Amino acid sequence: SSRQFFVGANWKLNPCSRDEKKKLIDMLNNANFDKNTEVVVAPPTLYAIAVADLLRKDVKVAAQNCYIKASGAFTGETSPTQLTEAGIPYVILGHSERRTLFHETSSLVAQKTRAAIDAGLSVILCVGETLQERESGATDNVVKEQLGEVVKLVSSEEDWSKIVVAYEPVWAIGTGKVATSAQAQETQKATRAYLASALSPKIAESTRIIYGGSVNDKNCRELATQPDVDGFLVGGASLTPGFVNIVNANA
Ligand code: G3H
Repeated sequence: SSRQFFVGANWKLNPCSRDEKKKLIDMLNNANFDKNTEVVVAPPTLYAIAVADLLRKDVKVAAQNCYIKASGAFTGETSPTQLTEAGIPYVILGHSERRTLFHETSSLVAQKTRAAIDAGLSVILCVGETLQERESGATDNVVKEQLGEVVKLVSSEEDWSKIVVAYEPVWAIGTGKVATSAQAQETQKATRAYLASALSPKIAESTRIIYGGSVNDKNCRELATQPDVDGFLVGGASLTPGFVNIVNANA
């Protein structure tokens, strides 16, 4: 496809020590990455500026979350405007850990997406179903509902050029139970069809839809062959040297 392959590293709340952080940055800085792949690393927000300073400039940095307001009495939050000011170009929004552990609704995630784009950020927008939802046949509707809230607030082609959709089935996250390439393709194809009907065929055709959930350097190549899999969002394996092979899965 004409869509640029995209691989994101979501470090989640790791690493905890300076030493581990330095090792990860060295690994990335010494890696031989496919030049056609967009690579984005999301360290814990506290480290984002330091990581951006130390990291090679062809790898971009993301925050893992942000708030809907630029400033004010919102103790403990991170402002999208301040991320932009700090030179951080991307933010992950709607990760299942945020939705589940921190009770973020699809409506809040949509408001955050709107605020992030208004502040000049690009967004890695995460969606995905639980095991129970998949087993009851609700997968496509769950993804539609999650994206539908965003579509209400974000609809222009220009705004959607700032969004990468990350399809992350909850049952595959951190479980070692990766979706089959057929499962990923089926849901991501349906997701693209939804974008075509809710927004426009052009937006659907140009929006990257990436897969996340137990991606590793062994399973990434087969997943990458699927026409609607435009890259990956990688958790656990992004903390290992195997991440380099995942970035190069489409090479
Ligand atoms: O954002 C990344 C996903 O939650 C995937 O995590 O690769 O550890 O399964 P995982």
